[in-house]
Amino acid sequence: MKKILLSLTLVAVIFTACNHSSKTKEMVKKDVFGTHNGKEVYLLTLTNKAGNVIRLTNFGARITWIEVPDKTGKKDNVAFGYDTFESTINGDPYFGAVIGRYANRIAKGKFTLDGVGYNTPLNDGPNTLHGGPAGWHSVVWNTEVLKDSKYPAVKFTYVSPDKEEGFPGTVNVAVVYTWTDNNEIVMDYTCSTDKKTVVNLTNHAYFNLHGAGNGDILDHELVIKAASFVPVDSTLIPSGEIRPVAGTPFDFTTPHTVGERIAENYDQLVYGKGYDHTFVLDNKEEVDATVYEPVSGRLMEVITDQPGVQFYCGNFLDGSMIGHGGKPYIYRSGLCLETGHYPDSPNHPDFPTTVLNPGETFKSTTIYRFSVK
Ligand code: BGC
Repeated sequence: MKKILLSLTLVAVIFTACNHSSKTKEMVKKDVFGTHNGKEVYLLTLTNKAGNVIRLTNFGARITWIEVPDKTGKKDNVAFGYDTFESTINGDPYFGAVIGRYANRIAKGKFTLDGVGYNTPLNDGPNTLHGGPAGWHSVVWNTEVLKDSKYPAVKFTYVSPDKEEGFPGTVNVAVVYTWTDNNEIVMDYTCSTDKKTVVNLTNHAYFNLHGAGNGDILDHELVIKAASFVPVDSTLIPSGEIRPVAGTPFDFTTPHTVGERIAENYDQLVYGKGYDHTFVLDNKEEVDATVYEPVSGRLMEVITDQPGVQFYCGNFLDGSMIGHGGKPYIYRSGLCLETGHYPDSPNHPDFPTTVLNPGETFKSTTIYRFSVK
């Protein structure tokens, strides 16, 4: 059902795209942001009909700016990022990036496919995090402005070589970002491989609906349509248990602020130093998660066809990252809703599979939609 809804959205986007060519040129502005490893890095400014702006860069296929109005019409950027390429490359590795080949953790950097063992670099204690230190967040993707789209749209592509960060197979990956007039960022991912491999893709944007750099997110009201979540050990690797959220501080099936129960003495909040967990999405309704910030009235909705969402609330932010406008990103000043598969799925045959075979195409869509209420 979920796949059908998202396919219909995609068809609608493509249909309108075919009906309205030519319009897009001025809606996507492409500026040089810097160079990295001999490749040009761009800053792409996408402006929709409502006059709202997002900015992307092909360094890590990132979202670096999302400027949307509050309930009085005042616009502010709600996404973490940096004003210059130099600060982007020297800053937090993940802000707004596409994470691959395997978003989230792989226990001890080891997994097996058809009896062959693979090792990936350990960059998070004993585990691999977010595809390894030189994952897809850190490479320069090819950039194509989609000129025939009604909405401003940019396609980033990358060819990940066999054995990159230890993963088997040459993988062709593409992500199309479309910024609709309804203030939706539609992210369409496609992946194929020439050898059996594992793939788990997400976007790692950090949001603060007060405006990025304006205080913490503990007052943001969250709903996650998930009846269960994936408990982890102290290194944030799943035990294999799928635990019902009912009666726990992980029950966001009705609205709760992020801060309401975060200090409770609950094993998973202790391991995660707060929320840093994958929720098992019910995938029954159009919208999978919502974040509402009452002062500005900003509402963000998350829609995905993926089986899970990692809710991370910036427990490791400490104010040392200075972002847009010279603002420090302090403790718990941003939250992430990283759609995707569960952590360490390659080592959990009972979790939804992340295996990609030659001849198959991985396709997935996630939407971040912004409005006010
Ligand atoms: C992880 C956090 C990690 C963060 C890095 C999240 O996806 O779950 O543990 O610190 O990424 O930005």
